[in-house]
Amino acid sequence: MTDRYVVIGNPIVHSKSPQIHARFAQQTGEDIAYDRLLAPLDGFEASVRDFIAGGGCGANVTVPFKLEAFALADELSRRAQAVGAVNTLKFSGGRIYGDNTDGVGLVRDIVTNAGVAVAGSRVLLLGAGGAARGVILPLLEQQPERIVIANRTLSKADELVAQFAQGDSPLSAARFGDLHDRFDIVINATSASLSAELPPVPASAFSSATFAYDMMYGAAPTVFLQMAAAHGAQVRDGLGMLVEQAAESFLIWRGVRPDTLPVYQWLREQL
Ligand code: ATR
Repeated sequence: MTDRYVVIGNPIVHSKSPQIHARFAQQTGEDIAYDRLLAPLDGFEASVRDFIAGGGCGANVTVPFKLEAFALADELSRRAQAVGAVNTLKFSGGRIYGDNTDGVGLVRDIVTNAGVAVAGSRVLLLGAGGAARGVILPLLEQQPERIVIANRTLSKADELVAQFAQGDSPLSAARFGDLHDRFDIVINATSASLSAELPPVPASAFSSATFAYDMMYGAAPTVFLQMAAAHGAQVRDGLGMLVEQAAESFLIWRGVRPDTLPVYQWLREQL
């Protein structure tokens, strides 16, 4: 029988996950079906339980349910525990296992796909919301020289440092106005690109040796990537992160890692 998976969110109609996982399944020969599931804003848990009762094997979870998915899981991966949010659920033996593949997706896209080393580099992370929180641990595991978290609201960046810094940590917090150094990697984890706004990062952060990454993606470069490119930076949007987090979920469910490049190239053509 075909194993069933869904991506659960609200809204969900624009999710590309079904197309991505259909291609992964085709490529690996795995017999799965993967659909969108719109859960009512007050009905996430009921939707998950219904899906499990109907024989569902796993789910991706997107906005606004990642915190509820964390609370619902019976068992959590270390990285899901660190983030406090879950984007991947696996159902087996009557238990719900929760994981978070967003951070590892970002790191794989930067290190493996773009070929940019995080190890030993100076990283500037813009934003201190859920998107930023999700990538700190996998970035730290790469052993960068330093990671500066810059946020409009400094207290939120301070909280992330307090949570993730242990001992002699490369992690620190800053206001945008206090940034004076150049960085090797600048990652936009703010939600500013959604409204075509620019986080107020100074030009001095960029050089021709800088790699700038926006977690958002679209047919045209975001204003952040346009600005970074104007200062000579090499730029990349978040489409690869989307495909890599999906591949990691597929691996958790099916035990095989799909080849992401052809799926990434196909999605790029669709934008
Ligand atoms: P997400 O889950 O996408 O991270 P979030 O938790 O609401 O969303 O966090 C949004 C982040 O984007 C925050 O760091 C926010 O900064 P504040 O904490 O100061 O609000 C940041 N952000 C949103 N719009 C921004 C803008 N125009 N310029 C700079 N930062 C912005």
